[in-house]
Amino acid sequence: MIRSIIIAAIVIVTLSQCGDELSGGAPVKKVISTKTPTASKKSSSTKTGTASSMNATQVAKALEIIASVGDKALQSINAKKVFKANCASCHGFSGNLAINGAKDLTKSEISLEEAVAQVYHGRGLMTPYKDILSAEELVAVAKYTETLRK
Ligand code: HEC
Repeated sequence: MIRSIIIAAIVIVTLSQCGDELSGGAPVKKVISTKTPTASKKSSSTKTGTASSMNATQVAKALEIIASVGDKALQSINAKKVFKANCASCHGFSGNLAINGAKDLTKSEISLEEAVAQVYHGRGLMTPYKDILSAEELVAVAKYTETLRK
């Protein structure tokens, strides 16, 4: 009888130590969770922008791209072909298909640098083309979208 009480006591002590170890693990989780507030700060800072909703940094990059492209290089691009191959799947050949929430390009009023920024960086469901199109192609196709306007 005494033996079983001792064994029971040992079991209780062992179990309570296990509990200590478990609760001892909790503070580690808390340390990890304190890292999230810094990430949310960053996303709120990107909300500055004009009507086109591309931010100042993105438009500045677009202006850089436009400035880097010469007239000759631009004329060597078949912009219509670039548009058909890369953009028509959502915007349609005439720009007004509006698949996947794509903006109707015939009603677009944004500036050339805003259009280049949109194509270079992408936005919403539109994929970025910075690694797909060359600087010449980016500017040429953005200019081409202006010709689709009515
Ligand atoms: C996967 C579908 C898709 C493809 C492909 C696509 N777009 Fe878009 N495009 C969109 C969507 C969606 C929007 C609206 C994005 C938003 O504002 O949330 C948009 C918006 C735009 C705008 C902004 C219009 C405005 O007035 O704000 C331009 C310019 C544009 N696209 C040009 C292009 C060009 C040029 C290409 C090809 C290089 C292209 N898009 C390829 C889906 C697409």
